[in-house]
Amino acid sequence: MNWTVDQIPDQSGRIAFVTGANSGLGLETTKVLLEKGAKVIMGCRSIEKAQNVIYQFHEKIDSGLIDWIELDLGDLTKVSKAADQVASKYPRLDLLINNAGVMAPPRTLSKQGFEIQFAVNHLGHMALTLKLLPLLDKQTGARVVTVSSGAQYMGKINWGDLQGEIQYDRWASYSQSKLANVMFALELNNLMKTSKSEVDSLLAHPGLARTNLQSTSVDANGSWQEAFAYKLMNPLFQSARMGALPQLLAATNPTAKGGEQYGPRFNVRGYPKPCRIASLALINSDRKKLWDVSEKLIRDFV
Ligand SMILES: NC(=O)c1ccc[n+]([C@@H]2O[C@H](COP(=O)([O-])OP(=O)(O)OC[C@H]3O[C@@H](n4cnc5c(N)ncnc54)[C@H](OP(=O)(O)O)[C@@H]3O)[C@@H](O)[C@H]2O)c1
Repeated sequence: MNWTVDQIPDQSGRIAFVTGANSGLGLETTKVLLEKGAKVIMGCRSIEKAQNVIYQFHEKIDSGLIDWIELDLGDLTKVSKAADQVASKYPRLDLLINNAGVMAPPRTLSKQGFEIQFAVNHLGHMALTLKLLPLLDKQTGARVVTVSSGAQYMGKINWGDLQGEIQYDRWASYSQSKLANVMFALELNNLMKTSKSEVDSLLAHPGLARTNLQSTSVDANGSWQEAFAYKLMNPLFQSARMGALPQLLAATNPTAKGGEQYGPRFNVRGYPKPCRIASLALINSDRKKLWDVSEKLIRDFV
């Protein structure tokens, strides 16, 4: 049987924090969680974009169910501040959905000088998660869901040049950041189990979904070839609503477990099912190495 949002149990009383909640998969995830009764804190960097979403919902839901906290994952000071704000407003957290992402821009640096995809997709989410763990730990059955990508299967960690300083390839860097998401989520799950924490860390791979990810990337690069390729590939892409199903399943299905990854049945599209984890993410020593390197880079902010 296909897994659909109809199978999501009532989420009333649960508090979710969704990064990148104003667009694409994050927006669909926010909508569905609200429809199912959860309280959703939207982590977004633009107040205008967050307010637009809140406005869309103002007649449909109790306004107390939706909140916005400023979150710029490209600035670790702001990540730290956002986590502190969540902790000051909420006694606990049931769900953290590490969804926001940026794909294949020209080489750009984060506020702290890290390559932007490594910074936003991986380091920012790692810092946010570590800061929010005490809140998640207060709740039985709390989950962290990190949104990966099919790019994980092409990704390699370039240990000698993590930040693309010697040579920057924007697609290799995106794939590296998405593999890093997978390695982080698995290592987090292991650490939670070792420390007897009940927090589960899961992964969701959306396949190909029509969102702003592709147009933002094309606008940043000005590449007509990529714009043309997306036009040709358009029939392969599924809706953002379908693309959000794996993360919704990972977040809400009572039988989903820490360490699992959910993705579309036909890899790029389809209803969600458990899916293969990139083999490079299964190397324990590399996961530990990435964790240690990343922890050093973010240590002043967690
Ligand atoms: N769509 C796909 O086919 C696909 C495939 C594989 C994986 N994914 C993954 O799915 C996730 C969601 O992407 P999407 O497709 O929904 O793309 P999207 O529509 O472009 O949404 C990306 C979200 O991330 C936010 N974001 C970007 N940089 C940020 C930063 N520095 N700080 C805070 N938020 C930031 C964006 O905010 P702004 O609106 O302010 O820019 C937006 O809310 C990403 O992790 C992506 O890698 C998507």
